[in-house]
Amino acid sequence: MKFQENIDLSSYNTFQVSCLAKYFCVVESKEDFLKVIETEIYQNNKILFLGWWSNILLTQDTYDGLVIKNEIKGKEVITEDDDEMVIKVWSGENRDSFVKRSIKKGLYGIENLISIPGTVWAAPMQNIWAYGVEVGNLISNVGWIDLPSKAEIILAQYECNFGYRNSVFKQELNKLFFIDSVSFRLKKYSPESYQAHNEYWAIKTKLEEKWIDDDQITPIVMAETIAEIRESKLPDRKSTGTAGSFFKNPIVSKEQHKKLQQLDSSIKGYPLSFEGKNIPMVKLNAGQLIDLAWLKGLQQGNVGTYHKHALILVNNWGWTWKELVALSQRIQKIVFESFGVKIEPEVNFVD
Ligand code: EPU
Repeated sequence: MKFQENIDLSSYNTFQVSCLAKYFCVVESKEDFLKVIETEIYQNNKILFLGWWSNILLTQDTYDGLVIKNEIKGKEVITEDDDEMVIKVWSGENRDSFVKRSIKKGLYGIENLISIPGTVWAAPMQNIWAYGVEVGNLISNVGWIDLPSKAEIILAQYECNFGYRNSVFKQELNKLFFIDSVSFRLKKYSPESYQAHNEYWAIKTKLEEKWIDDDQITPIVMAETIAEIRESKLPDRKSTGTAGSFFKNPIVSKEQHKKLQQLDSSIKGYPLSFEGKNIPMVKLNAGQLIDLAWLKGLQQGNVGTYHKHALILVNNWGWTWKELVALSQRIQKIVFESFGVKIEPEVNFVD
């Protein structure tokens, strides 16, 4: 196993933040990984796993430990019948390529999650959710290695405790695991069986604009439409440092939402349910609150909020993590002072 030293991580995180890793290595198979964890460098250092880091903010100039880059790739059909397929995907695979290949192969379920950068690893970690589809509902199981015991474990979907941007991997198992594979259960497309998730207002509007009727909607149409929506309001990650949504949408009581609406009637709130029953909580749009606080398009030094979507922090001229942390704290403070609502980062701060 080859360990490199003093590696600059700026090209490995979508924020393009500079940080020097003391040690760095690449694993291309589960066996590689099992070898790494037997080494002294692994055992004597703190560890960071690197997939794509599209949702990570490095908050140090140097990382005094070992960064393990996961390039475990490949996929395998586990079961198949007339209606669906279960496909095991190794965790270092590019998630968007998997989404696109699945659609091309005539599978559906995952098309609303098009154009989200990252590796398969992060799908169960943060239970990726976009445009009315939650990846947790498509996951059959997750294969992972329990780091303290080195045992290889498979967790069924119901054991993953998927919630809004949350899972068992972020909670009880935090830092004690290495995800090696994720199995997805996808449906086979036929015009009769296809049920598109097109309830989201932005999708409906875009489909109407394109003169597409309900009976013309296919997984490909959905994927193209969502890719267009994303492109129109999110920055191009190739030229701009960003991690997408920086904050989570806050959850407040119905009473608090009512009070907020007295302040500004446009403040949206989406009722939440638990196990099919409505609960007295609503999800607000952090982006809207930041926008209403006049912070959309704000520029602070090298960093700012994106002019087309206030929830997204962008780097135009090569920022440092310090500027970003300062900007995010300023946004949190102003939103709290304006609305009494605490917004929490969705991006993981790593030190
Ligand atoms: N809004 C504003 N001003 C803004 C931004 C948004 O008023 O500057 C309002 C919009 O008008 C809209 C509402 O807020 O009514 C919701 O906006 P959007 O549809 O963009 O959704 P979001 O809640 O801001 C979430 C995810 C996104 C995901 C979209 C679509 C979170 C933290 N973010 O954003 O995820 O793409 O829904 O489903 O839940 C990401 O994680 O990187 C990401 C982009």
